[in-house]
Amino acid sequence: MKQSFSKINKVEGELTFRGDKSISHRSVIFSALSEGKSIIKNLSNSDDVASTIGCFKELGAEFNFLNDELEVVGKGINSFNAPSKQLDAGNSGTTARLLSGILSAQNFDSELIGDESLSKRPMSRVANPLRTMGAKITLADDNFLPMKISNTSLHPIEYEMEIASAQIKSALLLAAIHLPQESKIIEKLITRDHTERMLRLPTYYEAGKKIISAAQLNYPKKSIYNVPGDISSASFFIVLALLAKDSELVIRNCSLNESRIGIIEVLQKMGGDITIISQSSNMGEPVGDLLIRSTEQLTNIKLDERIIPNIIDELPILSIAGIFADGDFEVRNAKELRVKETDRINAVCRNMERAGINVTEFEDGFRFSGSPKSQSNIFESFGDHRIAMSFSILGMLLENETIINDFESVSISNPLFLEQIAKILN
Ligand code: S3P
Repeated sequence: MKQSFSKINKVEGELTFRGDKSISHRSVIFSALSEGKSIIKNLSNSDDVASTIGCFKELGAEFNFLNDELEVVGKGINSFNAPSKQLDAGNSGTTARLLSGILSAQNFDSELIGDESLSKRPMSRVANPLRTMGAKITLADDNFLPMKISNTSLHPIEYEMEIASAQIKSALLLAAIHLPQESKIIEKLITRDHTERMLRLPTYYEAGKKIISAAQLNYPKKSIYNVPGDISSASFFIVLALLAKDSELVIRNCSLNESRIGIIEVLQKMGGDITIISQSSNMGEPVGDLLIRSTEQLTNIKLDERIIPNIIDELPILSIAGIFADGDFEVRNAKELRVKETDRINAVCRNMERAGINVTEFEDGFRFSGSPKSQSNIFESFGDHRIAMSFSILGMLLENETIINDFESVSISNPLFLEQIAKILN
């Protein structure tokens, strides 16, 4: 589906976002793992979270949507049903990777599949460390879905992460909570911490590294989850409000988890007028309200390697802010972008070229200079929700009409994107 956008005057008003996708996945997973009835409030309505629910239904967990809440009847440790068919993670890397850790610890065989995009994304990164715990996993070409996981017994590990990835870390922690003895997972570069935070796993720092312990005593218990609004979905609107003239936008109940607010910190350092107007805590996750006002001139800054995992999903929309800012916009140390829903380095570079930006592409990033030309643009989503939304925002800032091809991918994370845009237009 093609979607067209034209220049907007200003944005004004208030938005709240459905639950953060990463926290929603984990709320579903922990509810399905724990014995008895859990309630999830403000669950993400994304296709990705629906994929996670689909997989756990097949494993025997029950899901009942009651008004705005999801009731989950979980199974308890070692009580899932052996699946009667392949478990389909759809487009969702988080579903496939987190589930691989759980399935490795079950006393039955299982097989994980995904859509065309997910079937091209690397899985040896999660299979290899799980194999060091004793997991029996086979992959197509030893790297891709389908992933076949055989019944075997695991043992605890002490493992230092080779790739900065919350998905791999979480897969290992989720396998580890099935074992009586303690495992330790060590991170050099800090990634999003929802798994350890929500499971209250013991964590400490030593020589600049983060060490997380996990064992069966940390297995989740039934609970009430109240998921804070998705900061990654909000980031598109934050950039739009900064760049559109005379705009003022309030975003309520937004996740402000420290391992996720890099986008706010970077935009503030660039000169962006973003204020946290209130802050509180919700199931151990910081949440708050944001006020964003148009900013006359942003200035590009150097992005340190350590912030990259914190803004990994926001780099496409940050690039849009970057091309309107003073100075060149450069991202390095971000080769993980090449293995997201699409190769996001390629996707952003090709669309920027279409907008008339001077592009230098690196294996691990890009540099953009010059300003977008006033011309009609057709951008490709590459089937990737964050590319579709990033270039939609650009389309609302350019003089001439913009078309986004394959726009429907936005529902992977935010089916309400167009409705929310309509709500704040003036
Ligand atoms: C996620 C972790 C990140 C992120 C993804 C969601 C998670 O992936 O890009 O959208 O919920 O754990 P990596 O951990 O592979 O970087």
